[in-house]
Amino acid sequence: MGKRINKPLLSGVVAAFLFAFAIFFLTSSTSAQQNPTMDGIPAKVATDYIHSVVTASREFYAKQIVGRLGKSISLKASENWEQENALPLPAQFLKLSAKNSNDLGIGLKIRLLSLNPINKENSPVTDLETLGLRGLSKSSTEPFTWMVQRQGMWTFQAIYPDVASSESCVSCHNTHPKSPKKDFQLGDVMGGILINVPLSNVPLTEKGISGEGEVFMVPPQIVSDYVHATLDSDRHVYTEYIVKRMKAAGIVEAKESWLDENALPLPAQFLLNTGLAARRNKLGLNFRLISLWPISFNNSAANEFERNALVSVAVNPLRPYLGKTKRGRNTYFQAIYPDFAVSQACVDCHNSHPKSPKKDFQLDDLMGGMVISFPMKK
Ligand code: HEC
Ligand code: HEC
Repeated sequence: MGKRINKPLLSGVVAAFLFAFAIFFLTSSTSAQQNPTMDGIPAKVATDYIHSVVTASREFYAKQIVGRLGKSISLKASENWEQENALPLPAQFLKLSAKNSNDLGIGLKIRLLSLNPINKENSPVTDLETLGLRGLSKSSTEPFTWMVQRQGMWTFQAIYPDVASSESCVSCHNTHPKSPKKDFQLGDVMGGILINVPLSNVPLTEKGISGEGEVFMVPPQIVSDYVHATLDSDRHVYTEYIVKRMKAAGIVEAKESWLDENALPLPAQFLLNTGLAARRNKLGLNFRLISLWPISFNNSAANEFERNALVSVAVNPLRPYLGKTKRGRNTYFQAIYPDFAVSQACVDCHNSHPKSPKKDFQLDDLMGGMVISFPMKK
């Protein structure tokens, strides 16, 4: 079966394959209605969501952490960040976070790739990845997508172009001793962000790839698990590798009024700002932190559903609380994941914060929840 898709692709009939895909995606939502067990989010929309989170947090990190603090307090970002008490480069931040979510074993895989990588680790490892990278165009933000069989399952893969959006991308790569390419220009596609999503619900039958009436959908709770894993990994990497390290080295601390005080944003603020940046993509994906005891009034439960969810995840914290709501003409899928006091720092800061209505949080207590929502149909 794998051979059947590999062959036409490798012999170069890529356009036809992509065309079949395009047709497929145009027809997929109607098929979903006919078969309620296949109800879900088209795989390409799922990878769009994950990609928007990955790029939003890298952009916020590059601009508001590396860029701003580089200027205001001469904080350095360096490839050898571990040895030099410096910040990791944005590409390294992305890779640390991807490693964290890839290692969760939930099927989601994110990688930063290039045909001309500084770090050989970032080379494509399959012919399809190479083909995908070659297929990326600077005139479109659309990913190159395909399907492969992996570990007895169909996997949807999408490579999104990674474009030299600023002069610094170009100058750093062109002058890097390990860069095999020295003539990148502003606006060039420098590489790609590869996102793998397994399609456990697509049968492994011969006609699995034919397109006709088949549904490449991902169940919405799996999509929200992937978005949650990506967000949680970003926040984890930010807390562990930036906030804690910088504080321990006595370089800079995280403060609520980070913008005015040349400081690092708090982890909750990092997430909030990533959410604002991701919303600019207008995909309909939303996420935020809420609590029954919020420091910020904006983080109160916004409705009955969110209040019930917070109570429910307190009792049953292993799975998120799921639901659907109607907003306008759209039905939104909503998932609320428990957010625990995973370190003493969470407890100490919230308990001592003048605006915190609860002063007796303890380690491992439930402090609130992460809300993730997106439209069910486009
Ligand atoms: C200060 C130097 C520097 C800047 C600025 C920089 N990069 Fe990189 N980039 C690197 C290094 C070093 C790596 C290798 C990281 C690793 O070890 O995986 C890398 C990795 C990458 C990769 C993975 C392939 C590879 O070369 O290993 C891509 C794609 C990439 N960068 C794109 C960009 C883009 C797009 C920008 C601007 C938005 C940018 N880079 C800005 C230094 C830089
Ligand atoms: C240095 C102080 C500090 C630390 C450390 C901290 N928080 Fe917060 N947290 C805040 C502040 C301030 C807000 C409100 C941010 C805003 O304005 O939206 C917040 C917001 C939140 C919210 C949203 C509800 C609310 O209270 O407004 C949750 C949930 C939350 N934090 C959980 C955590 C967890 C879990 C940790 C540890 C992993 C943590 N926090 C660490 C200060 C902190």
